[in-house]
Amino acid sequence: KRQSLRDQMPPGVRIGSAVDGRSLSLDPAYRDLLGSEFNAITAENAMKWRSLEPVPGVYAWTGADQLVEFAERHGQAVYGHTLVWHSDVPKWVSPDWPAERVRAVLQEHVTAVVSRYRGRVWAWDVVNEVLDEDGSLRDTVWLRKLGPGYIADAFRWAHAADPGARLFINEYGIEGRTRKADALVKLVRELRRAGVPVDGVGFQSHLRWDQQPRDLLGNLRRFADLGLSVAVTELDVRIALPATPQKLERQAAVYRQVLQACLAVPACVSFTVWGFTDARSWIPGYHRGYGAACLFDTSPAPKPAHAALLDEL
Ligand code: XIL
Repeated sequence: KRQSLRDQMPPGVRIGSAVDGRSLSLDPAYRDLLGSEFNAITAENAMKWRSLEPVPGVYAWTGADQLVEFAERHGQAVYGHTLVWHSDVPKWVSPDWPAERVRAVLQEHVTAVVSRYRGRVWAWDVVNEVLDEDGSLRDTVWLRKLGPGYIADAFRWAHAADPGARLFINEYGIEGRTRKADALVKLVRELRRAGVPVDGVGFQSHLRWDQQPRDLLGNLRRFADLGLSVAVTELDVRIALPATPQKLERQAAVYRQVLQACLAVPACVSFTVWGFTDARSWIPGYHRGYGAACLFDTSPAPKPAHAALLDEL
């Protein structure tokens, strides 16, 4: 039997993957790998609002329930993703409603979802992608209707619904020393000063094979220095197709560097990939010309990146 990431991971740092709901219910080989390689799982889509509440007040819990049950059977932690996001808002939530109504449905949503999985989800992405590249708050229906206070409110609602869950703010494009990363440092510092229950920062880490983020380690540290946990929440390393042996080696080096950085920072509590097999990755559908972003190929057989992570452990 091959060594697994899960067996080699040091205690105190979780190794996770996003889970594709269809494969979870239909593909035994997928389930086997998911159970043996990872000790944490994130729903790739099943816990997003549009999936959970397609019709107002009518919840579709099945996919999310199945994921949580799978995790419990396999001794895995569940990382909840994601409560407040500008994308994946159900169509019935209207930007034309008065602010009070928008606020009420948002609060109801956060409360319903967190309460349902109270004690069974170890961490939640409470807000996702709230910043723009220039560091300002992203122009979303939440900001427009509710003002910047919606972020603090979301954390307070989530905390009230499950005081034991660790609450994260999740973002992309903050792996290196970017303007967005600088702005996020400021934002979380302010939130913490105001007593908002923010426990950690999630670094999505959708990276490319030919670019290492600038000073990832130093960047993780400055968030850790604020007293926060940090987590790699959605790592994948996309390759401009076709994938050649050389590109796969460079990809492996990027995966390795991210793990190294996480392991070097005691505040880094988990390392999660956004899907583990190239057969089920979101990349080809969203980044034209790119693919082969995961640790396993379409067989699924482990790629050089998988070996690099094992080697680092
Ligand atoms: C993506 C999923 O992987 C896709 O299947 C879905 O169609 C769109 O969302 N940042 C996030 C994730 O926080 O929720 C996104 O997931 C990828 C980018």
